[in-house]
Amino acid sequence: MNIALIGYGKMGKAIHEIANQKNEQLGENKYNIQLIVDIENRATTTLEDLRKCDVAIEFTSPHTAIENIKWCFDAGIPVVVGSTGWLDKLDEIKALASSKNQTILYSPNFSIGVNIFFEMNRQLAKIMNKYDAYDVEMEEIHHTEKKDAPSGTALYTALDVLKFVDRKVDWKNEPTNSENTLDIISLREPNVPGTHTVTYKSDIDSIELKHTAHNRKGFAGGAIVAAEWLVSKKGVYTMDDVLGFNQ
Ligand SMILES: NC(=O)c1ccc[n+]([C@@H]2O[C@H](COP(=O)([O-])OP(=O)(O)OC[C@H]3O[C@@H](n4cnc5c(N)ncnc54)[C@H](O)[C@@H]3O)[C@@H](O)[C@H]2O)c1
Repeated sequence: MNIALIGYGKMGKAIHEIANQKNEQLGENKYNIQLIVDIENRATTTLEDLRKCDVAIEFTSPHTAIENIKWCFDAGIPVVVGSTGWLDKLDEIKALASSKNQTILYSPNFSIGVNIFFEMNRQLAKIMNKYDAYDVEMEEIHHTEKKDAPSGTALYTALDVLKFVDRKVDWKNEPTNSENTLDIISLREPNVPGTHTVTYKSDIDSIELKHTAHNRKGFAGGAIVAAEWLVSKKGVYTMDDVLGFNQ
């Protein structure tokens, strides 16, 4: 599988490292990093260069993701998008994918553990909808260079809480202590890859659902799993499709 890495920062490099490790274990170059694109060579890389790849994996930034997705659509190659903070444009991208018959898989978090956390969050929210003695709040902690807040993972988690817990109607990225608002507290601390907590609290007890990433290997490994899954598909997908949570 020939892979284009679009964005060669912390995540691009982590994906390259995992691909190399997998190849070493297999004794063959199954996950071939054919092309690396970052700011310096973005303008000089052509659609022809991209077309030599079976799939692209995009981890750049909230502001550059859309342009890169459209670029992959123009080249006609499926794209796995890890960049966060662009979901306000999701409908536009879905419509474009459909009109151009192109393929995209996006997820705010490619770690298998976080996707299990997402599914547990949905199940817990469905249960807690009946128990209004519990208030619910969220916290996310990330490294200090992170550009978006709340994190894409926190936002995705929050939207699932809002979907199933009727007493919460909106979210705010600050402490409001309001009955109908889901508070998301974002903390930035050095070297934290990502920690997300959902807490249901009553006067008598608390229930906490927490995922702690110890490093970036989970995101990187999950992105390669997603790329391999996507390569023979057409359409718009998320990690729920890869892991079978949509069935
Ligand atoms: N989905 C996930 O599992 C997951 C996990 C971690 C991070 N992220 C997200 O992925 C994105 C990247 O994270 P990171 O930690 O690697 O960031 P980073 O800042 O370390 O790396 C981003 C890289 O993209 C490059 N870049 C910027 N604009 C570009 C463009 N137009 N074309 C090509 N390259 C460009 C930058 O030069 C940089 O090297 C962020 O949005 C982050 O929130 C997602």
